[in-house]
Amino acid sequence: MKHLIAPSLLAADFSNLKKDVELINNSEADWFHLDIMDGVFVPNISFGIPILESIKPLAKKPFDVHLMIVQPERYIETFKKAGADIFNVHYEASTHLHRTVQTVHDAGMKAGVTLNPHTPVSVLEDIISELDLVLLMSVNPGFGGQKFIKNTFDKVEQLKELILRKNSRALIQIDGGVDNTNATELIDKGADVLVAGSYVFKSSNPEATIKGLKELSF
Ligand code: DX5
Ligand code: ZN
Repeated sequence: MKHLIAPSLLAADFSNLKKDVELINNSEADWFHLDIMDGVFVPNISFGIPILESIKPLAKKPFDVHLMIVQPERYIETFKKAGADIFNVHYEASTHLHRTVQTVHDAGMKAGVTLNPHTPVSVLEDIISELDLVLLMSVNPGFGGQKFIKNTFDKVEQLKELILRKNSRALIQIDGGVDNTNATELIDKGADVLVAGSYVFKSSNPEATIKGLKELSF
């Protein structure tokens, strides 16, 4: 499968979100990556449901919603109504992860689980066959523009091995500090979806930057 690109709107121009939504619509990007932060699970507050609802009618690509919040299971129906296609919870924030994944599927969304940089891939052993996506954080969650943690390369290989061994359909997604210095190696090691915030939106030509990431091969 050709890898997918999911630009993170966290780095977009919030004073003119419509422009950046249209930029993604007209680019080779595959998904919108939407970072929801509650100021409790992570030390930052980003944006929430009203923003999703207001951009959903403009957006022509799926909403990949990354929930950096405690008790994400409380908001499954709410985010479904706001337009989420992929509901992605942190392993560290989910006590009853299996139940949460089932409820996400029952609500008609794809289910993703995210691992913080310190959380080993092995914790997914007994849930991987239920998942549509696993996100490996390559920075500590909470902020855009941080430096890529190189240990992520090994984790991609370990996750790929687990997915193959368990015959799982889960896609491997990487989020944090992704740019042209690490994207090729990530894809080479098995990444299926690259999230990029600053690298896309702080570039002089975001559409060309997305195209560049999309056209990488190994
Ligand atoms: C970080 C978020 C990321 C962030 C990535 O907590 O989950 O999605 O937007 O931003 P960059 O690509 O700038 O590291
Ligand atoms: Zn994210």
